[in-house]
Amino acid sequence: MAHFSLSLCIFFTVLSLTSSFTITTPSHTTILNISSSLHQARQILSFKPQQAFQQTLTQKQTPTSRSSSFFSLQLHTRETLFNAQHPDYKTLVLSRLARDSARVNSLETKLQLALNSVKRSELYPTQTEIRPEDLSTPVSSGTSQGSGEYFSRVGVGQPAKPFFMVLDTGSDVNWLQCKPCSDCYQQTDPVFDPTSSSSYYPLTCDAQQCQDLEMSACRNGRCLYQVAYGDGSFTVGEYVTETVSFGGSGSVNRVAMGCGHDNEGLFIGAAGLLGLGGGPLSLTSQIKAASFSYCLVDRDSGKSSTLEFNSPRPGDSVTAPLLKNQKVNTFYYVELTGFSVGGDIVSIPPETFAVDQSGVGGVIVDSGTAITRLRTQAYNAVRDAFKRMTQNLRPADGVALFDTCYDLSSLQSVRVPTVSFHFAGDKTWALPAKNYLIPVDSAGTYCFAFAPTTSSLSIIGNVQQQGTRVSFDLANSVVGFSPNKC
Ligand SMILES: *[C@@H]1O[C@H](CO)[C@@H](O)[C@H](O)[C@H]1NC(C)=O
Repeated sequence: MAHFSLSLCIFFTVLSLTSSFTITTPSHTTILNISSSLHQARQILSFKPQQAFQQTLTQKQTPTSRSSSFFSLQLHTRETLFNAQHPDYKTLVLSRLARDSARVNSLETKLQLALNSVKRSELYPTQTEIRPEDLSTPVSSGTSQGSGEYFSRVGVGQPAKPFFMVLDTGSDVNWLQCKPCSDCYQQTDPVFDPTSSSSYYPLTCDAQQCQDLEMSACRNGRCLYQVAYGDGSFTVGEYVTETVSFGGSGSVNRVAMGCGHDNEGLFIGAAGLLGLGGGPLSLTSQIKAASFSYCLVDRDSGKSSTLEFNSPRPGDSVTAPLLKNQKVNTFYYVELTGFSVGGDIVSIPPETFAVDQSGVGGVIVDSGTAITRLRTQAYNAVRDAFKRMTQNLRPADGVALFDTCYDLSSLQSVRVPTVSFHFAGDKTWALPAKNYLIPVDSAGTYCFAFAPTTSSLSIIGNVQQQGTRVSFDLANSVVGFSPNKC
């Protein structure tokens, strides 16, 4: 407590000396609870994944009284399912950050391919030029790390078999590993066997779903698919329809998905992926969801939350217009107008976050990216504002992609300037301190959890979304952020 009062006192002194405005109202600052976040960081290292695994296998879904199109799935963090037993918290953080860089590269590659059709046809032949044998050629070697940060258990087939699937708002094509495997990575569930399902239907090459694929080929009249994630990971196999079951909340027949016989790269642990993007082949589009929402629990909390389809948006949500990029329909763009730090609007040219006619620029909300990426100029402005207002804190060396870190090891808690996103329509989403000051070791080093990108695409990552229910109201083109609705 003594530390706390002292730092508070220094903070306001520094603030009034260095800022042209004197901000002392409490909403302009927020408290970071250091003892509680370090406690979580230590706990997650010894978390026993098997516990969550067992729970989710036996979990009873409560029947819902809402309309039959309402579906709900439990949402789990990577650490609670496939904890890789890291020797210390810093190793865990560094592996998360390496995974995150691969993720961002993959989104940027996807965007580049969509924006630059010349480049795309060089990298991947167009649909008619692909031969079946081309589809099984690795684009490049996948990395050995598991990817995907949030997972749900869904049933596939008839009778339904349960699988852990990565949930991904940054892609559309659903797929899972399938027998017979020419190459399957390690997964926790037995690999799906089409011969044991009565609802497995291969799609023909002239099916609309097959036509909608970015990369497909035809063999004996049957549709083959390939998805390459731009980071070396890929999946290749037969494109089929199957029944997908959402725990006890219902099932949907004839969902198009890939039955992957050759799968490599980033998805170790999960059986496959559910695409929640905005394109026609995503799960969201196929079940014609008017909305979906998820809540991403703090990744160190060991807790789970839910992914819901067609549930109402919480009344207290901060809303942002949901925008479309004409060149790529997968990503969810929002109309971000700027930032404030400690109550001061950060000076950033308004066009920095706009998506232009050619599809360049813009800001997407992504479930799979951890650290928010901002165009360098915007990042620098936000970071400089934050640094200016935290001169009371002891600086520490940068870690990985973080250039602004602090040694908070001697403190129990500390008051820091509030960082807020501003959206069109004068909406302000104020983040809790733990969503932008994150521990990078268990000793008390914290870093400012934003990063610059030289790409034109800015990304709102899941560290910033933690503890917030994010609702994608597709029918009304609005994204809602509701704090403390997990
Ligand atoms: C920090 O969190 C701990 C445990 O969650 C709690 O007991 C304590 O009161 C919190 N401190 C502050 C300053 O909020």
